[in-house]
Amino acid sequence: MIEKIVRQAGAVAAQAAQFIRKERVSFDQNVVERKGRNDLVSYVDKQSEQLLVAGLKNILPQAGFITEEATIKHERKEWTWIIDPLDGTTNFVHGHPPYSVSIGLLHQDEIVGGIVYEVNRDELFMAWKGGGAYLNDEPIRVTNTHSLSDSLIATGFPVQDFSYIDTYLKIVKDLMQDSHGLRRLGSAATDLAYVACGRYDAYFESNLNAWDVAAGILLVQEAGGNVSDYSGGIDYLFGRQLIAGGPVHAEVLRIVKKHWA
Ligand code: IPD
Ligand code: CA
Ligand code: CA
Repeated sequence: MIEKIVRQAGAVAAQAAQFIRKERVSFDQNVVERKGRNDLVSYVDKQSEQLLVAGLKNILPQAGFITEEATIKHERKEWTWIIDPLDGTTNFVHGHPPYSVSIGLLHQDEIVGGIVYEVNRDELFMAWKGGGAYLNDEPIRVTNTHSLSDSLIATGFPVQDFSYIDTYLKIVKDLMQDSHGLRRLGSAATDLAYVACGRYDAYFESNLNAWDVAAGILLVQEAGGNVSDYSGGIDYLFGRQLIAGGPVHAEVLRIVKKHWA
């Protein structure tokens, strides 16, 4: 049942991705609004969300929604969709890949479905609880890398709250010197999808919202990876901080713990 729901939601995500791609061609930076410091939004985010909500309502009429642009009332129900209609808005505005549609499905407190659709490479990542993770229908796995010195690590820089910047830079300094390198893509949902398919060995970021990570968390877990908060615990969906990876997750967690108060 969950597989069928996730596949149908994947088709809805593909429609939203097509809309985003079409709008990018004629996109005018003058239509960008500011929700807060470094927090951009345009009609593309909002209309993508409306399209997703309408499509997902057809699949599970009884489900509630938690969505970034709040075009529908936030409501937790037995089933809840958690949606970021365009993750990587700053990238989109600047015409820079990647940017994705992200859809997570909660059943009570458990993430049971995850879809990330990266628009530029036309990549559909899907996972459902107990069913594995897939990229364009091919099974994916996290890497088997244990050592930081063999790892490529992704992160997100602070963008709105700079209160923890010094601590963050200490973590970055250690990881930068110990790994193959660090990357900052600009789309948390895509970062997690890339961990799930082995392009990154691990990823960490602070100040995230549930809609950035709900889908990607399940992708990583179903691809055989680990997800934790910064203390190694399980408060990663609403806890605003997360580390995800294959076996090298343990090494990243060790370095984060060393610096994070
Ligand atoms: C942002 C992206 C970015 C991350 C920010 C998010 P948005 O989401 O995921 O990579 O660093 O924390 O807010 O605003 O583009 O949906
Ligand atoms: Ca986001
Ligand atoms: Ca967004």
